[in-house]
Amino acid sequence: MLVMTPKFIFLITLFLTTFLLFTPSSSSSTSLAQQNKYSTFVKISCSSATYPAACTKSLLPYASTVKTNPLTLVKAALATALKSTNATLSTITQLYQTNRITKWEAKVLKDCIGDLKDSMDEIKSSIKEISGIPKSTDKGFALSNAQTWTSAAITDENSCLDGFSDGRKTNSVIRKKIRNSIVSLARVSSNALSLINHLSV
Ligand SMILES: *[C@@H]1O[C@H](CO)[C@@H](O)[C@H](O)[C@H]1NC(C)=O
Repeated sequence: MLVMTPKFIFLITLFLTTFLLFTPSSSSSTSLAQQNKYSTFVKISCSSATYPAACTKSLLPYASTVKTNPLTLVKAALATALKSTNATLSTITQLYQTNRITKWEAKVLKDCIGDLKDSMDEIKSSIKEISGIPKSTDKGFALSNAQTWTSAAITDENSCLDGFSDGRKTNSVIRKKIRNSIVSLARVSSNALSLINHLSV
């Protein structure tokens, strides 16, 4: 037989309160519909990107911030590119600082660090142009500047690989590690560029 101890009554009350508080109301089902709408916007926008799957994967986490604003989506894409460039920069800087590399490898890595720093500056400039579009009197000019900065960033990322492809000997582990991180970085950046190319302002 159940005994109505104060503790038991407390637990019953707690259970009922919890149940009532977390029962979905009509307002939270509306927000679920909104969430679906925002996710769909990211997926549709990414379908025209160079690497649609990678685009969707990296930008879905921003769906609720982006809502259905194409400029905000582009800013999220550029912010992702900036973060990836920074992560690659730190990988390469760590390699550069080990003493197990040859003089030639050190030179190649140092050039690469310079390229990636330039690339980060260019992505920042592109973000600045995109952010300025709503208040700009020449939106087309701002957009074309953003395209130019983002293309320059991609060129710099790729020139990081040049040092490894001129036939001189570099460690294959280092080469592979850098190639992989640059290739995935260049994908993130070309997705950002294709989203920029599809903007109509
Ligand atoms: C780049 O990464 C470093 C840590 O590795 C961090 O301190 C810095 O804020 C990052 N910069 C950007 C622009 O993400």
